[in-house]
Amino acid sequence: MAGLTSKRQLFLDHVGQTSTYPLMLEIDRAEGIHIYDTAGKRYYDLNSGISVSSLGHRHPQVVAAIKAQLDKHMHTMVYGEHVQAPQIEYAELLTAQLDASLNSIYYLNSGSEVLEAAMKLAKRATGRYEIISASGAYHGSTQGAEVLRSDHDYSRAFLPLIPGVRHIDFNNLEDLEKISCRTAAVIVEPVQAESGVIPPDPTYLKALRERCTYTKTLMVLDEIQTGFGRTGALFAHQKYGVVPDMMCIGKAMGGGMPIGGLVADRELLGKFTRFPDLGHITTFGGHPVVCAAAKATLEVLLSAEYISEVAQKEAYIHKTLQHPIVKEVRSSGLMMAVELTKRKYLKHVVGKAFEEGALIDYFLFNNRSFRLAPPLIYTMRELEAAMTVLLKALDYAEKKYN
Ligand SMILES: Cc1ncc(COP(=O)(O)O)c(C=O)c1O
Repeated sequence: MAGLTSKRQLFLDHVGQTSTYPLMLEIDRAEGIHIYDTAGKRYYDLNSGISVSSLGHRHPQVVAAIKAQLDKHMHTMVYGEHVQAPQIEYAELLTAQLDASLNSIYYLNSGSEVLEAAMKLAKRATGRYEIISASGAYHGSTQGAEVLRSDHDYSRAFLPLIPGVRHIDFNNLEDLEKISCRTAAVIVEPVQAESGVIPPDPTYLKALRERCTYTKTLMVLDEIQTGFGRTGALFAHQKYGVVPDMMCIGKAMGGGMPIGGLVADRELLGKFTRFPDLGHITTFGGHPVVCAAAKATLEVLLSAEYISEVAQKEAYIHKTLQHPIVKEVRSSGLMMAVELTKRKYLKHVVGKAFEEGALIDYFLFNNRSFRLAPPLIYTMRELEAAMTVLLKALDYAEKKYN
Protein backbone atom coordinates (compact mmCIF):
# COMPACT_ATOMS: atom_id res chain seq x y z
CA MET A 1 0.00 0.00 0.00
CA ALA A 2 1.29 3.39 -1.00
CA GLY A 3 -0.18 4.77 2.23
CA LEU A 4 2.26 2.83 4.40
CA THR A 5 5.28 4.50 2.89
CA SER A 6 3.66 7.83 2.22
CA LYS A 7 5.08 11.01 3.67
CA ARG A 8 2.01 11.27 5.84
CA GLN A 9 2.65 7.87 7.38
CA LEU A 10 6.34 8.67 7.87
CA PHE A 11 5.29 11.95 9.49
CA LEU A 12 3.18 10.03 11.99
CA ASP A 13 5.88 7.43 12.58
CA HIS A 14 8.96 9.58 12.91
CA VAL A 15 8.05 13.20 13.60
CA GLY A 16 7.13 14.11 17.17
CA GLN A 17 3.44 14.91 17.36
CA THR A 18 1.72 17.68 19.28
CA SER A 19 -1.76 16.16 19.30
CA THR A 20 -3.64 13.04 18.30
CA TYR A 21 -5.53 14.94 15.62
CA PRO A 22 -3.02 16.61 13.29
CA LEU A 23 -4.47 18.37 10.26
CA MET A 24 -2.25 16.28 7.94
CA LEU A 25 -2.14 18.87 5.18
CA GLU A 26 0.76 17.71 3.05
CA ILE A 27 2.52 20.85 1.91
CA ASP A 28 4.08 21.20 -1.49
CA ARG A 29 4.69 24.94 -1.66
CA ALA A 30 3.34 28.27 -0.53
CA GLU A 31 3.26 31.59 -2.32
CA GLY A 32 1.61 34.88 -1.33
CA ILE A 33 -1.76 34.18 0.29
CA HIS A 34 -1.86 30.58 -0.91
CA ILE A 35 -0.64 27.22 0.32
CA TYR A 36 -0.59 24.28 -2.12
CA ASP A 37 -0.75 20.64 -1.14
CA THR A 38 1.04 17.80 -2.88
CA ALA A 39 -2.10 16.97 -4.86
CA GLY A 40 -2.01 20.47 -6.33
CA LYS A 41 -4.96 21.77 -4.30
CA ARG A 42 -4.78 25.46 -3.45
CA TYR A 43 -5.82 26.85 -0.08
CA TYR A 44 -6.45 30.40 1.03
CA ASP A 45 -4.27 30.95 4.07
CA LEU A 46 -6.49 32.76 6.56
CA ASN A 47 -4.27 32.11 9.60
CA SER A 48 -0.79 33.11 8.47
CA GLY A 49 0.58 30.05 10.30
CA ILE A 50 -0.74 31.59 13.54
CA SER A 51 0.07 35.23 12.84
CA VAL A 52 3.46 34.61 11.26
CA SER A 53 3.11 35.11 7.51
CA SER A 54 1.77 38.65 7.62
CA LEU A 55 3.48 39.38 4.31
CA GLY A 56 2.19 36.11 2.89
CA HIS A 57 4.50 33.32 1.88
CA ARG A 58 7.90 33.87 0.28
CA HIS A 59 7.60 37.61 -0.07
CA PRO A 60 10.08 38.45 -2.87
CA GLN A 61 11.93 41.10 -0.85
CA VAL A 62 12.31 38.75 2.08
CA VAL A 63 13.53 35.92 -0.12
CA ALA A 64 16.00 38.24 -1.84
CA ALA A 65 17.37 39.46 1.51
CA ILE A 66 17.84 35.89 2.71
CA LYS A 67 19.68 34.92 -0.47
CA ALA A 68 21.91 37.99 -0.32
CA GLN A 69 22.88 37.26 3.28
CA LEU A 70 23.48 33.57 2.51
CA ASP A 71 26.05 34.68 -0.03
CA LYS A 72 27.89 36.68 2.64
CA HIS A 73 27.86 34.63 5.82
CA MET A 74 25.71 32.52 8.09
CA HIS A 75 26.55 31.75 11.73
CA THR A 76 29.97 32.96 12.85
CA MET A 77 29.82 33.11 16.66
CA VAL A 78 27.26 32.93 19.47
CA TYR A 79 25.06 35.99 19.91
CA GLY A 80 26.65 39.09 21.35
CA GLU A 81 30.27 38.65 20.30
CA HIS A 82 30.64 39.58 16.65
CA VAL A 83 29.47 42.85 15.11
CA GLN A 84 27.08 41.75 12.39
CA ALA A 85 25.45 44.16 9.98
CA PRO A 86 22.01 42.45 9.78
CA GLN A 87 21.57 42.63 13.57
CA ILE A 88 22.61 46.24 13.77
CA GLU A 89 20.60 47.42 10.79
CA TYR A 90 17.48 45.70 12.03
CA ALA A 91 17.87 47.07 15.55
CA GLU A 92 18.35 50.58 14.19
CA LEU A 93 15.31 50.38 11.93
CA LEU A 94 13.06 48.79 14.55
CA THR A 95 13.92 51.10 17.42
CA ALA A 96 13.44 54.15 15.17
CA GLN A 97 9.75 53.19 15.01
CA LEU A 98 9.37 53.04 18.79
CA ASP A 99 9.29 55.31 21.82
CA ALA A 100 12.75 56.56 22.78
CA SER A 101 12.72 54.28 25.84
CA LEU A 102 12.49 51.17 23.66
CA ASN A 103 15.90 51.65 22.14
CA SER A 104 17.56 48.26 22.36
CA ILE A 105 16.79 44.68 21.36
CA TYR A 106 18.02 41.37 22.69
CA TYR A 107 17.70 38.76 19.94
CA LEU A 108 16.32 35.28 20.58
CA ASN A 109 14.91 32.47 18.47
CA SER A 110 11.28 32.11 19.49
CA GLY A 111 8.49 33.74 21.43
CA SER A 112 8.75 31.49 24.47
CA GLU A 113 12.42 32.25 24.80
CA VAL A 114 11.67 35.96 24.78
CA LEU A 115 9.23 35.50 27.65
CA GLU A 116 11.85 33.53 29.57
CA ALA A 117 14.32 36.35 29.08
CA ALA A 118 11.77 38.97 30.13
CA MET A 119 11.01 37.09 33.36
CA LYS A 120 14.69 36.69 34.19
CA LEU A 121 15.45 40.31 33.42
CA ALA A 122 12.54 41.54 35.55
CA LYS A 123 13.83 39.60 38.56
CA ARG A 124 17.38 40.74 38.01
CA ALA A 125 16.41 44.40 37.53
CA THR A 126 13.95 44.75 40.40
CA GLY A 127 15.30 42.28 42.94
CA ARG A 128 11.72 41.01 43.29
CA TYR A 129 10.43 37.64 42.17
CA GLU A 130 6.66 37.89 41.92
CA ILE A 131 5.40 37.92 38.35
CA ILE A 132 1.81 38.59 37.42
CA SER A 133 0.09 37.52 34.23
CA ALA A 134 -3.50 37.55 33.09
CA SER A 135 -5.96 34.70 33.16
CA GLY A 136 -6.62 33.28 29.72
CA ALA A 137 -3.18 34.28 28.51
CA TYR A 138 -0.83 32.18 26.45
CA HIS A 139 2.84 33.13 26.38
CA GLY A 140 4.55 29.93 25.21
CA SER A 141 5.39 26.40 26.28
CA THR A 142 8.75 26.53 28.02
CA GLN A 143 8.54 26.24 31.81
CA GLY A 144 8.70 29.96 32.47
CA ALA A 145 6.21 30.82 29.74
CA GLU A 146 3.99 27.89 30.72
CA VAL A 147 3.62 29.06 34.30
CA LEU A 148 2.16 32.33 33.03
CA ARG A 149 -0.90 30.54 31.76
CA SER A 150 -3.76 30.32 34.22
CA ASP A 151 -5.25 27.08 32.95
CA HIS A 152 -3.85 24.44 35.26
CA ASP A 153 -5.34 21.59 33.24
CA TYR A 154 -2.49 22.15 30.82
CA SER A 155 0.30 22.81 33.25
CA ARG A 156 -0.60 20.25 35.92
CA ALA A 157 1.24 17.45 34.13
CA PHE A 158 4.48 19.42 34.22
CA LEU A 159 4.56 20.52 37.85
CA PRO A 160 6.46 21.87 39.64
CA LEU A 161 7.04 24.85 37.38
CA ILE A 162 8.34 28.16 38.69
CA PRO A 163 7.10 29.71 41.94
CA GLY A 164 5.96 33.28 42.38
CA VAL A 165 3.48 33.70 39.56
CA ARG A 166 -0.02 35.09 40.21
CA HIS A 167 -2.86 35.87 37.86
CA ILE A 168 -5.19 38.79 37.43
CA ASP A 169 -8.31 38.95 35.29
CA PHE A 170 -7.70 40.69 32.01
CA ASN A 171 -9.69 43.95 31.69
CA ASN A 172 -10.54 43.93 35.41
CA LEU A 173 -9.52 47.31 36.84
CA GLU A 174 -10.02 46.25 40.46
CA ASP A 175 -7.60 43.37 40.03
CA LEU A 176 -4.82 45.84 39.29
CA GLU A 177 -4.65 46.37 43.07
CA LYS A 178 -2.97 42.96 43.26
CA ILE A 179 0.08 44.51 41.61
CA SER A 180 2.24 45.66 44.50
CA CYS A 181 5.73 46.76 45.40
CA ARG A 182 6.58 43.05 45.58
CA THR A 183 5.77 42.55 41.89
CA ALA A 184 8.73 42.40 39.55
CA ALA A 185 6.73 42.41 36.34
CA VAL A 186 3.26 42.23 34.93
CA ILE A 187 3.16 40.41 31.63
CA VAL A 188 0.11 40.75 29.40
CA GLU A 189 -0.85 40.51 25.77
CA PRO A 190 -2.29 43.88 24.68
CA VAL A 191 -4.98 41.88 22.89
CA GLN A 192 -5.48 38.40 24.30
CA ALA A 193 -5.05 35.99 21.45
CA GLU A 194 -5.72 32.42 22.51
CA SER A 195 -8.76 33.29 24.60
CA GLY A 196 -10.40 34.14 21.29
CA VAL A 197 -9.26 37.71 20.63
CA ILE A 198 -10.11 39.83 23.64
CA PRO A 199 -9.16 43.45 22.98
CA PRO A 200 -8.39 45.67 25.98
CA ASP A 201 -11.15 47.92 27.31
CA PRO A 202 -10.38 51.54 26.42
CA THR A 203 -8.92 52.45 29.81
CA TYR A 204 -7.36 49.12 30.75
CA LEU A 205 -3.81 49.31 29.44
CA LYS A 206 -3.41 52.90 30.60
CA ALA A 207 -4.59 51.96 34.09
CA LEU A 208 -2.18 49.01 34.06
CA ARG A 209 0.63 51.34 32.99
CA GLU A 210 -0.18 53.72 35.85
CA ARG A 211 -0.31 50.97 38.42
CA CYS A 212 3.02 49.55 37.24
CA THR A 213 4.64 52.97 37.36
CA TYR A 214 3.24 53.53 40.86
CA THR A 215 4.54 50.21 42.24
CA LYS A 216 7.79 50.36 40.22
CA THR A 217 6.79 47.13 38.52
CA LEU A 218 8.00 46.47 35.01
CA MET A 219 5.20 46.43 32.45
CA VAL A 220 5.87 43.77 29.86
CA LEU A 221 3.69 43.60 26.76
CA ASP A 222 3.72 40.38 24.80
CA GLU A 223 3.29 41.60 21.21
CA ILE A 224 4.20 38.25 19.72
CA GLN A 225 0.83 37.91 18.00
CA THR A 226 -0.18 41.56 17.90
CA GLY A 227 3.06 42.90 16.44
CA PHE A 228 4.05 43.91 12.95
CA GLY A 229 0.83 45.48 11.77
CA ARG A 230 -1.60 42.74 12.79
CA THR A 231 -3.87 45.10 14.77
CA GLY A 232 -3.64 48.01 12.32
CA ALA A 233 -0.67 49.74 13.98
CA LEU A 234 2.90 48.55 13.77
CA PHE A 235 2.55 47.50 17.40
CA ALA A 236 -0.65 47.26 19.43
CA HIS A 237 0.73 49.38 22.29
CA GLN A 238 0.98 52.25 19.81
CA LYS A 239 -2.67 51.77 18.88
CA TYR A 240 -3.76 51.69 22.52
CA GLY A 241 -1.57 54.59 23.64
CA VAL A 242 0.81 53.06 26.19
CA VAL A 243 4.55 52.44 26.33
CA PRO A 244 5.69 49.25 28.07
CA ASP A 245 9.02 48.81 29.84
CA MET A 246 9.65 45.69 27.80
CA MET A 247 8.09 44.43 24.60
CA CYS A 248 8.25 40.80 23.47
CA ILE A 249 8.20 40.23 19.72
CA GLY A 250 8.37 37.17 17.49
CA LYS A 251 6.14 35.38 14.98
CA ALA A 252 5.68 37.83 12.04
CA MET A 253 9.01 39.49 12.83
CA GLY A 254 11.03 37.20 10.57
CA GLY A 255 8.74 37.17 7.54
CA GLY A 256 8.48 33.37 7.88
CA MET A 257 11.85 32.77 9.54
CA PRO A 258 12.24 31.96 13.27
CA ILE A 259 13.26 34.89 15.44
CA GLY A 260 12.19 36.67 18.60
CA GLY A 261 13.30 39.79 20.40
CA LEU A 262 13.09 41.44 23.80
CA VAL A 263 12.90 45.19 23.32
CA ALA A 264 13.63 47.59 26.20
CA ASP A 265 15.79 50.48 27.27
CA ARG A 266 19.49 49.72 26.86
CA GLU A 267 20.15 50.29 30.55
CA LEU A 268 17.54 47.72 31.49
CA LEU A 269 18.74 45.19 28.92
CA GLY A 270 22.25 45.89 30.13
CA LYS A 271 21.41 44.06 33.36
CA PHE A 272 22.06 40.87 31.44
CA THR A 273 25.67 41.86 30.88
CA ARG A 274 26.87 42.26 34.48
CA PHE A 275 26.46 40.61 37.90
CA PRO A 276 26.56 38.00 36.51
CA ASP A 277 28.07 38.71 33.16
CA LEU A 278 26.68 36.52 30.40
CA GLY A 279 23.39 36.64 32.34
CA HIS A 280 21.50 35.42 29.31
CA ILE A 281 23.13 33.83 26.31
CA THR A 282 22.03 32.08 23.17
CA THR A 283 23.86 30.40 20.32
CA PHE A 284 21.57 31.27 17.43
CA GLY A 285 19.62 34.33 18.63
CA GLY A 286 20.03 37.11 16.05
CA HIS A 287 21.13 34.74 13.31
CA PRO A 288 22.33 36.96 10.44
CA VAL A 289 20.20 35.31 7.76
CA VAL A 290 17.10 35.60 9.90
CA CYS A 291 17.88 39.21 10.86
CA ALA A 292 18.23 40.02 7.16
CA ALA A 293 14.77 38.50 6.60
CA ALA A 294 13.39 40.49 9.55
CA LYS A 295 14.82 43.72 8.19
CA ALA A 296 13.31 43.14 4.75
CA THR A 297 9.98 42.29 6.40
CA LEU A 298 9.97 45.52 8.38
CA GLU A 299 11.02 47.55 5.36
CA VAL A 300 8.11 46.17 3.36
CA LEU A 301 5.67 46.86 6.19
CA LEU A 302 6.92 50.42 6.51
CA SER A 303 6.89 51.22 2.81
CA ALA A 304 3.71 49.49 1.63
CA GLU A 305 0.13 50.37 2.56
CA TYR A 306 -0.63 47.06 4.24
CA ILE A 307 -0.90 48.41 7.78
CA SER A 308 -3.04 51.39 6.81
CA GLU A 309 -5.37 49.06 4.88
CA VAL A 310 -5.97 46.77 7.87
CA ALA A 311 -9.00 48.73 9.16
CA GLN A 312 -10.75 48.58 5.79
CA LYS A 313 -10.22 44.81 5.52
CA GLU A 314 -11.32 44.32 9.12
CA ALA A 315 -14.54 46.24 8.44
CA TYR A 316 -15.15 44.24 5.28
CA ILE A 317 -14.85 40.93 7.12
CA HIS A 318 -17.22 42.14 9.84
CA LYS A 319 -19.77 43.15 7.23
CA THR A 320 -19.42 39.95 5.22
CA LEU A 321 -19.55 37.46 8.04
CA GLN A 322 -23.02 38.38 9.18
CA HIS A 323 -24.61 34.96 9.21
CA PRO A 324 -27.29 33.17 11.26
CA ILE A 325 -24.72 30.97 13.02
CA VAL A 326 -22.22 33.77 13.68
CA LYS A 327 -22.81 35.21 17.13
CA GLU A 328 -20.13 37.86 16.93
CA VAL A 329 -16.84 38.74 15.32
CA ARG A 330 -14.25 40.08 17.77
CA SER A 331 -11.22 41.79 16.39
CA SER A 332 -8.34 44.13 16.71
CA GLY A 333 -7.40 44.79 13.12
CA LEU A 334 -6.87 41.52 11.27
CA MET A 335 -6.53 39.56 14.49
CA MET A 336 -10.02 38.13 14.54
CA ALA A 337 -12.24 35.57 16.24
CA VAL A 338 -15.53 34.47 14.74
CA GLU A 339 -17.76 33.18 17.52
CA LEU A 340 -20.51 30.79 16.52
CA THR A 341 -23.94 30.55 18.10
CA LYS A 342 -23.38 26.91 19.03
CA ARG A 343 -20.22 25.07 19.92
CA LYS A 344 -21.15 22.04 17.83
CA TYR A 345 -20.82 24.08 14.63
CA LEU A 346 -17.17 24.82 15.09
CA LYS A 347 -15.51 21.68 13.83
CA HIS A 348 -17.88 21.45 10.89
CA VAL A 349 -17.15 25.01 9.80
CA VAL A 350 -13.40 24.47 10.12
CA GLY A 351 -13.61 21.09 8.33
CA LYS A 352 -15.80 22.31 5.50
CA ALA A 353 -13.65 25.41 4.96
CA PHE A 354 -10.63 23.11 4.67
CA GLU A 355 -12.45 20.91 2.18
CA GLU A 356 -13.41 23.96 0.15
CA GLY A 357 -9.88 25.36 0.22
CA ALA A 358 -9.65 27.86 3.10
CA LEU A 359 -7.47 27.41 6.19
CA ILE A 360 -8.97 28.65 9.42
CA ASP A 361 -8.07 27.36 12.86
CA TYR A 362 -9.11 26.86 16.45
CA PHE A 363 -8.00 28.81 19.52
CA LEU A 364 -6.34 27.23 22.53
CA PHE A 365 -8.87 28.51 25.06
CA ASN A 366 -12.08 29.20 23.17
CA ASN A 367 -14.17 26.36 21.83
CA ARG A 368 -16.87 28.43 20.17
CA SER A 369 -14.75 30.61 17.92
CA PHE A 370 -12.47 30.15 14.97
CA ARG A 371 -9.40 32.15 14.25
CA LEU A 372 -8.92 34.52 11.33
CA ALA A 373 -5.54 36.15 10.93
CA PRO A 374 -5.07 36.49 7.18
CA PRO A 375 -1.82 37.75 5.70
CA LEU A 376 -2.06 41.55 5.52
CA ILE A 377 -1.33 41.44 1.80
CA TYR A 378 -4.77 40.18 0.74
CA THR A 379 -6.34 42.44 -1.86
CA MET A 380 -10.03 43.24 -1.39
CA ARG A 381 -10.85 40.99 -4.31
CA GLU A 382 -8.90 38.08 -2.83
CA LEU A 383 -10.56 38.66 0.52
CA GLU A 384 -13.94 38.57 -1.17
CA ALA A 385 -13.11 35.20 -2.74
CA ALA A 386 -11.84 33.78 0.57
CA MET A 387 -14.92 35.02 2.44
CA THR A 388 -17.15 33.34 -0.15
CA VAL A 389 -15.53 30.03 0.82
CA LEU A 390 -16.07 30.77 4.51
CA LEU A 391 -19.70 31.67 3.99
CA LYS A 392 -20.17 28.38 2.19
CA ALA A 393 -18.72 26.57 5.21
CA LEU A 394 -21.03 28.49 7.56
CA ASP A 395 -24.05 27.67 5.37
CA TYR A 396 -23.07 24.03 5.35
CA ALA A 397 -22.77 23.82 9.14
CA GLU A 398 -26.06 25.64 9.61
CA LYS A 399 -28.01 23.39 7.24
CA LYS A 400 -26.43 20.08 8.10
CA TYR A 401 -26.03 20.35 11.88
CA ASN A 402 -28.88 22.57 12.99
C1 LIG B 1 1.08 35.79 22.59
C2 LIG B 1 2.10 34.71 22.43
N1 LIG B 1 3.21 34.76 23.16
C3 LIG B 1 4.18 33.82 23.06
C4 LIG B 1 4.02 32.75 22.20
C5 LIG B 1 5.09 31.69 22.12
O1 LIG B 1 5.80 31.84 20.94
P1 LIG B 1 6.63 30.60 20.34
O2 LIG B 1 5.63 29.58 19.90
O3 LIG B 1 7.39 31.21 19.19
O4 LIG B 1 7.52 30.11 21.42
C6 LIG B 1 2.87 32.65 21.43
C7 LIG B 1 2.68 31.53 20.50
O5 LIG B 1 1.63 31.24 20.01
C8 LIG B 1 1.87 33.66 21.55
O6 LIG B 1 0.75 33.61 20.85
